[in-house]
Amino acid sequence: MEKKIVAANIGMKFGMSHVEGAMSYGAEIAAICDSNEENLNFAGERYNIPPEKRHTDYMDIVNDKSIDIVTVAVPDQQHKKLSCDLLRAGKNVLCEKPLALTREDVKEIIKTADESSGKFMVGQICRFTPAFEKAKEIIDSGTIGEVYFAESEYAHDYMDLVDTWRSDPNRHGMIGGGCHAVDLLRWLVGDPKEVFAYGTHKLLPGVEYDDATVAVMKFDDNVMGKVFVSTGCKRDYTMRTVIYGTKGTLICDNTSPTMTLFVTDENGRTKDPQTIDVEVNSHNAAREFEVFADAVLNDKPVITDAREGAKTVEVCLSIIESSKTGKPVRPNYDF
Ligand SMILES: NC(=O)c1ccc[n+]([C@@H]2O[C@H](COP(=O)([O-])OP(=O)(O)OC[C@H]3O[C@@H](n4cnc5c(N)ncnc54)[C@H](O)[C@@H]3O)[C@@H](O)[C@H]2O)c1
Repeated sequence: MEKKIVAANIGMKFGMSHVEGAMSYGAEIAAICDSNEENLNFAGERYNIPPEKRHTDYMDIVNDKSIDIVTVAVPDQQHKKLSCDLLRAGKNVLCEKPLALTREDVKEIIKTADESSGKFMVGQICRFTPAFEKAKEIIDSGTIGEVYFAESEYAHDYMDLVDTWRSDPNRHGMIGGGCHAVDLLRWLVGDPKEVFAYGTHKLLPGVEYDDATVAVMKFDDNVMGKVFVSTGCKRDYTMRTVIYGTKGTLICDNTSPTMTLFVTDENGRTKDPQTIDVEVNSHNAAREFEVFADAVLNDKPVITDAREGAKTVEVCLSIIESSKTGKPVRPNYDF
């Protein structure tokens, strides 16, 4: 029987999904932490975590040698500080996306992860979303032929979130939420070699950054891509994603119970679409935790490690730079 994982979570808002993920995996929850006592106790009551395991200072978790895995769900600006403190103490760390908001911070996380005995994973949750896992399987099987264009959008109304840390100019919507669409395209298609973007600002009065950005991108072998991010949109949350191949087309979304697949017949004509049922689970924290626990227990590589998270941040920052300068930008993946 595998060793029982002992887990802790820091940041008890979205972080509650990590506690649920760890619990559904069967981990022991040794501690939870939030600097806000109200949020801490709300989560503590919800998950039956006794008061002595509730902490307001994350250093209590850093210093607890019994803990194997720490999930981190604090504001993006603090990802570097908490992840590095935990990694220096040898903890295995699953930190929320985006890895960080600046190139300096991603470099420090990479360096600290390289030097640590613990493993590091950035929570690019779309890689565990059933519809996108299925899309990856279909693309890799060659069913739609050679991909020549792929697009993904992240449309999410942040109207009620702009008074928080999310309104920090460094937390541009393209990196905060847009990193999901960028990471998804990187996973499905590869690393863009060049990006060009436009941005506009018409919806969120409380932020200084553009609330809508569209970026086109070039991949190897003349493959093209597009990412559209709107953080003020007047519609329900969607990450509609379309992959166009030489033998078919795939349309999917993390909020839809079906995906649509077009393929061609032996004469190259497009057949009637197939509808594929998928589980709607846009935040599959249970699968994410399971994959990380497997990497920790069996000393496997982590797919979304610090360098992988850094590449996604690099593309997002390149898109933001292009939208500001009006010039194409080539991401620098030299970490
Ligand atoms: N994967 C996803 O789709 C997804 C969805 C939502 C949020 N997130 C990410 O999760 C993280 C948290 O987002 P959120 O929506 O929960 O934010 P939030 O502001 O609602 O909650 C953050 C919590 O962290 C606590 N906190 C802040 N600093 C702390 C510290 N130093 N020590 C302990 N607790 C601290 C706050 O008191 C608060 O309870 C962010 O990085 C965000 O980008 C990811």
